[in-house]
Order: sequence, then C-alpha cells, then structure tokens
Amino acid sequence: AYVVTEPCIKCKYTDCVEVCPVNCFYEGANFLVIHPDECIDCGACEPVCPTKAIFPESDLPPEYSEYRTLNAQFATQWPNIAEKKAALPDADSFKDKKGKRSMLEA
Ligand code: SF4
Ligand code: F3S
Repeated sequence: AYVVTEPCIKCKYTDCVEVCPVNCFYEGANFLVIHPDECIDCGACEPVCPTKAIFPESDLPPEYSEYRTLNAQFATQWPNIAEKKAALPDADSFKDKKGKRSMLEA
C-alpha cells in the first residue's frame, strides 16, 4: 500500500484524492491517510502531491516509518474523502516545513 507521511500535515492539498481510482483516502482535521487494505498500489497519487508526502510502503523513508501504522489506524477512524477540496488556509506556508509530526490532529 501507499502511505501518506508528515509533509501532508497542515497542508492537505487533496490532489491525491482526485486521482485515486478506489477512493481509499480518509480525512482528519489536518492530514489524510490511505487505507492499506483498500489501496491497489496504482501509484497515481504519489506524483500529484505538491508536498511529496506519499510513498510506497516498500520505499518509506526510515524517518517516516511510524506513518505505516498511523495510516492503518486513522483509516478506520476517519471519514472517507472522495472529492478534491480546497487546501488548508496556511498550506503554502507549511508546505516545506519540517518537524510537523506534533501538529497532527488526531
Ligand atoms: Fe489510491 Fe493508487 Fe494512491 Fe493507492 S496508490 S492511494 S490506489 S491513487
Ligand atoms: Fe496531503 Fe498531498 Fe494529498 S498534501 S492531501 S497527501 S495531495
């Protein structure tokens, strides 16, 4: 499965949602996740994310290893999102910021 990681936090551009053929994205207040059992590994979402937040599980950077579990967990708790919407208001200013993990709103 593909995994959404830290760069998405506080941005949520949702370009990924628009291209996913199986609608397997789930939406929190300031982050999206992919349901690992629903993702068909098509790879369509990875190149369209403006923050480069999406990785295949097999190529997950070590510093983002925790996000495998976070995606699986939140995908069962958050509502599905099937349509693109406006990014968060401060998305552009948070796009290149590091260290956003503590800002993730569960
Ligand atoms: Fe959806 Fe494909 Fe991305 Fe998986 S890899 S989340 S199926 S767009
Ligand atoms: Fe997040 Fe990138 Fe999608 S910022 S909402 S993973 S397009």
